[in-house]
Amino acid sequence: MVRVSVLGAGGRMGREVIRALIASENFTLAGALARHGSEIIGQDAGKLVGLPDCSVAVGDDLAVVLATANVAIDFTLPEATIFNISGCEAAGCALVIGTTGHEQSAQQALYEHSWKVPAVLAPNMSIGVNLLYGLAAVAARMLENYDAEIVETHHRFKKDAPSGTALRLGEAVATARGQEFGSVARLGRAPGDEPRSKNEIGVSAVRAGDVVGEHTLLLAGDGESLELRHVARDRASFAGGALKAAAWVCGRQPALYGMRDVLGLGEGLT
Ligand SMILES: NC(=O)c1ccc[n+]([C@@H]2O[C@H](COP(=O)([O-])OP(=O)(O)OC[C@H]3O[C@@H](n4cnc5c(N)ncnc54)[C@H](OP(=O)(O)O)[C@@H]3O)[C@@H](O)[C@H]2O)c1
Repeated sequence: MVRVSVLGAGGRMGREVIRALIASENFTLAGALARHGSEIIGQDAGKLVGLPDCSVAVGDDLAVVLATANVAIDFTLPEATIFNISGCEAAGCALVIGTTGHEQSAQQALYEHSWKVPAVLAPNMSIGVNLLYGLAAVAARMLENYDAEIVETHHRFKKDAPSGTALRLGEAVATARGQEFGSVARLGRAPGDEPRSKNEIGVSAVRAGDVVGEHTLLLAGDGESLELRHVARDRASFAGGALKAAAWVCGRQPALYGMRDVLGLGEGLT
């Protein structure tokens, strides 16, 4: 039984992960952390997510929340994640980081951090999306001269555009073709822009309704097109990936891993 603490318990993803943990026979909820001063501190984590009491109260002391955990799952804010890493290292607790939005320098610092515990960093925990990166790389390499365009759609509240997942998909295509994504990326088009150039990878963002997340890679040649498309219908897909990562990372050598490691996509697909 893997004992998991959830960091960011009151958020959309934190609640989804708590629900998934309580429903699973392979995991135990060991702790739940909220921001200092949050109104949910002291509440039972089960009740918080609309389930029966689970005898785990939401707390705001990281050391206490991690005390009996094998692994923590972090869906908070970039600045909170950086703080939570130290707490996990002090507690000897593995870590799964789902939080996104770390600036490039912070992300670089995460990669260069001398990890004292095993950790997984995955900006998109969905198993399908991580498989899509690998499939995209294979298709882009085989259809080397086809025009690559990425279209992503998200709910009306999403702040950033294009999504981190769309950019990562673009990187997968560019890397497979021996290109540097930054120099071939075309983020959106407007009247008066230059026509498409040979190597560019277009990325377009749509914001509408309550769409959880859709990503399509179009590879278009003369006379035919191939589309690879992922649709996230529910945040449960991200929670499922987070639990898979949590089970995988326990007992590994201290280092920073990605979902590609968790899913064993290192060979063959990329
Ligand atoms: N990797 C993936 O697959 C994936 C999927 C979905 C989302 N995400 C990312 O995950 C993050 C969370 O997303 P969300 O939709 O759940 O956002 P959210 O609903 O805003 O939840 C974030 C939670 O973190 C809490 N928090 C902030 N600082 C904290 C701290 N120091 N200690 C403990 N809790 C703290 C917030 O509390 P307050 O509300 O009280 O401030 C809030 O409850 C975002 O970065 C998002 O982009 C990743």
